[in-house]
Amino acid sequence: MSADQLIASLEQLGREFQHVIRPLADEQAIRAAQAQFLGKKGKVSEVMKELGRLPPADRPLVGAAVNRVKADIEEQVARRLRELADAAARADLARAVDVTLPARPVGGGHLHLLTQVRLEAVQIFSELGFVVAEGPQIETDWHTFEALGTPKDHPARDMQDTFYVSDEIVLRSHTSPVQIRTMQTQAPPIRIVAPGHVFRRDDDATHSPMFTQLEGLAVDEGISFTDLKGVLIHFVSRFFARDLTVRFRPSYFPFVEPGAEVDMQCSFCMGAPQGLPRAEDARPRSAAGERDRSPSGAGGACRLCKGTGWLEIGGAGMVDPVVFAAVNIDSERYTGFAFGMGLERMAMLRNGVDNIKFYYEGDIRFLEQF
Ligand code: DAH
Repeated sequence: MSADQLIASLEQLGREFQHVIRPLADEQAIRAAQAQFLGKKGKVSEVMKELGRLPPADRPLVGAAVNRVKADIEEQVARRLRELADAAARADLARAVDVTLPARPVGGGHLHLLTQVRLEAVQIFSELGFVVAEGPQIETDWHTFEALGTPKDHPARDMQDTFYVSDEIVLRSHTSPVQIRTMQTQAPPIRIVAPGHVFRRDDDATHSPMFTQLEGLAVDEGISFTDLKGVLIHFVSRFFARDLTVRFRPSYFPFVEPGAEVDMQCSFCMGAPQGLPRAEDARPRSAAGERDRSPSGAGGACRLCKGTGWLEIGGAGMVDPVVFAAVNIDSERYTGFAFGMGLERMAMLRNGVDNIKFYYEGDIRFLEQF
């Protein structure tokens, strides 16, 4: 081939490339076409092989034509890519977005029932001058038992079997060790409530290996059992939002003397279960035997308190002098009361939760009810 013919076929390649590239609409295809023309085995390289057969004097002219066609093809590639990018940007800008469309509603979360109950309880006690105290969940045997009048061989330990980390370290089985920690670091007057997790070897519908207690402690000169009773009456009345009273049943806890189980007046039947008509007399029988949702169950007994009129909510008493001795507080000068209650139980009684496991399962159908 002559130099003129070579130059003509190079220019022809430039035009051919225009046709090839025009319909291509994505970068990958464009790059593939570019390689077909400019790659090592591409069409332009094929023509360049002829270059060696030309008389040397003709080569520069043809060489210049090669460079022109290469630059031309590269320019076409760049232009086509620019066109595509511009078109994409225009399409993007032209997209109609209705910014006035309301967003899909996102359900609002709320505090867990147990958290609500803890905060409410703390609020009520704080209005009486109690402040929140805390202690570790992994506690020494000494703080959990010994300092609370419960030496290692004491039978009362059986009531609170717990998890031992070692002989001297336990998962606390109650919040009462916070009493000890508080009295070790503060001088009377003391008024604290200590809410927190506790652990026991228990597991059924009303017991869980982990649950939450709220401890109370008041130490001062002249504190008496009536102060304890007044505080608890105030608390249950506020918490259940109706006038309720409490009663004490003499009981034994190693760290109080006297000690008592605390019952509150049944918030459901108000302690008047006898006043309710017996089921057989008062209610028309439903043919389908539908579920009885009334406060009085079969036989007229209130379901919540089983007809006793009272609901057990915790333990309490006057701080035993052996406890004061363990923390070097003068029991001739100071007296104090203490109480402890389970917060799961308080929510069960007030909010009608009938299985303790519901609190911990995280089932939204349960959680969203409160
Ligand atoms: N710590 C006891 C328990 O978990 C409850 C208790 C009873 C706490 C009497 C007290 C108290 O502060 O005075 O079984």
